[in-house]
Amino acid sequence: MWWILGIVALAILVALLYWQLIVAEGAYLGPRVVALLYDLSAHVYDRIKHFDSGYEQYFLAAPLTTALFSFPNPLVLDVATGTARMAHTLFHEVGFRGRVVGVDLSRKMLEQAVQKTARWKDRTLLLWDDASRLPFPADTFEAVTCLEALEFLPNPDGVLQEMVRVLRPGGLFLTTNRIGTDAKLMPGRTFTTEEIERKLQEFELEMIQVRPWQEDYDLVWAVKPGVCTPQTPRRVDDILRCPRCQSSVTRTEEAFRCDNGHSIPIASDGVVEMVRVRG
Ligand SMILES: C[S@@+](CC[C@H](N)C(=O)[O-])C[C@H]1O[C@@H](n2cnc3c(N)ncnc32)[C@H](O)[C@@H]1O
Repeated sequence: MWWILGIVALAILVALLYWQLIVAEGAYLGPRVVALLYDLSAHVYDRIKHFDSGYEQYFLAAPLTTALFSFPNPLVLDVATGTARMAHTLFHEVGFRGRVVGVDLSRKMLEQAVQKTARWKDRTLLLWDDASRLPFPADTFEAVTCLEALEFLPNPDGVLQEMVRVLRPGGLFLTTNRIGTDAKLMPGRTFTTEEIERKLQEFELEMIQVRPWQEDYDLVWAVKPGVCTPQTPRRVDDILRCPRCQSSVTRTEEAFRCDNGHSIPIASDGVVEMVRVRG
């Protein structure tokens, strides 16, 4: 009798672990666990995902580049950038003349991102940081993107609000909404189409369009109301803020230094290590 109870308890434990670690990828266990799981799988991430360059160009880079055609040097923020999928596909798009800032909490994913964007390193800035507090002034980016990540963030609403804050009026917003069976296993982190539309309306985005994309994700496009006028290229020093005191920063060889003396290290691979400075 006891051995039957033992097997049932073990089966429940395995199912729980499978749900928390494989399906939800640590989402209910906190951002450190999520980042740790991505650290462990970073070296095989692209192989597991089977990214198809034509598919990426067709669904992501081409429409984004077309929508940004009136900005000669668009600045794109890719939140939870992972292995730099978005930067990589944008830089392969002939018409894209902009730069990409990628933020991610997994240092190992960023190591892969560094390798994938090496050819375009003068147009890429990679930040090791939590997406919940974006270190930029309001109205900075012509486009903000966040693919396949919203459901893994501890507070999707807070991150959505941050992304809308740093998006320029008239700027383009692109995210994904998890659908399918696994979405039902992530209560509170995924939305129905109506819910995500309503949520983006609450954040005062407009022209919201939910488009089928992959088996387990829809693409969600929207625009921040207002007029976005073309800008001359901005330096990193102009857009980056100190994660401790939000003051502006100046670049030196190994770090960004803020007006209040905080130093944000730049690692030897070029990744700006914001997490080391956060209080
Ligand atoms: C499924 S991957 C998506 C990566 C990339 N956007 C793509 O489409 O390939 C999810 C990413 O979210 C990142 N992530 C999870 N929680 C985060 C957080 N709180 N702040 C920043 N990045 C986070 C993970 O490290 C991981 O790289």
